Amino acid sequence: MVNPQMERIQSHLSRMKLTTTRDRLDGLLQEAARKELSFLDFLDLVLSEEAAAKDSKRTRMGIQIAHFPIRRSLDDYDFDLQPSLDRRLIRELETGTFIAHAENILLLGPPGVGKTHLAIGLGGSPSNGARAACS
Ligand SMILES: Nc1ncnc2c1ncn2[C@@H]1O[C@H](COP(=O)(O)OP(=O)(O)OP(=O)(O)O)[C@@H](O)[C@H]1O
Ligand SMILES: [Mg+2]
Repeated sequence: MVNPQMERIQSHLSRMKLTTTRDRLDGLLQEAARKELSFLDFLDLVLSEEAAAKDSKRTRMGIQIAHFPIRRSLDDYDFDLQPSLDRRLIRELETGTFIAHAENILLLGPPGVGKTHLAIGLGGSPSNGARAACS
């Protein structure tokens, strides 16, 4: 049966481009009822899911636009193979502060040691949003 209120809410969500909430509305309402969520907790759940979905979409699109030559992530990088590499520095670069400060990163080393892998991993990390260039 058509529920005019649900239709109105779905239409508002579409207009506001809150598409994850629109598509998951039934499930979210059921979850709220099942867990007896407070109004605040429900709002928190809805907005957190929507924000996470938008962040993940932005990263995916950034990776697509960046045209990285291969798919690599920092999670696949074996730091044990490069003991001279400062893991803490890489984790710091992952935060994206260098982009905010308009700084460059130079990865120097012999062929095949993972420079491109690291550059792609840094560029594709969620906080950097695939904005780094690599070769
Ligand atoms: N420490 C590592 N952990 C996991 N994979 C690695 C590591 N080092 C290299 N690789 C893998 O080896 C391959 C070659 O690495 P990559 O292309 O990043 O090297 P490069 O330093 O950029 O080489 P080049 O100087 O020729 O451009 C890639 O598939 C990469 O994922
Ligand atoms: Mg390379």
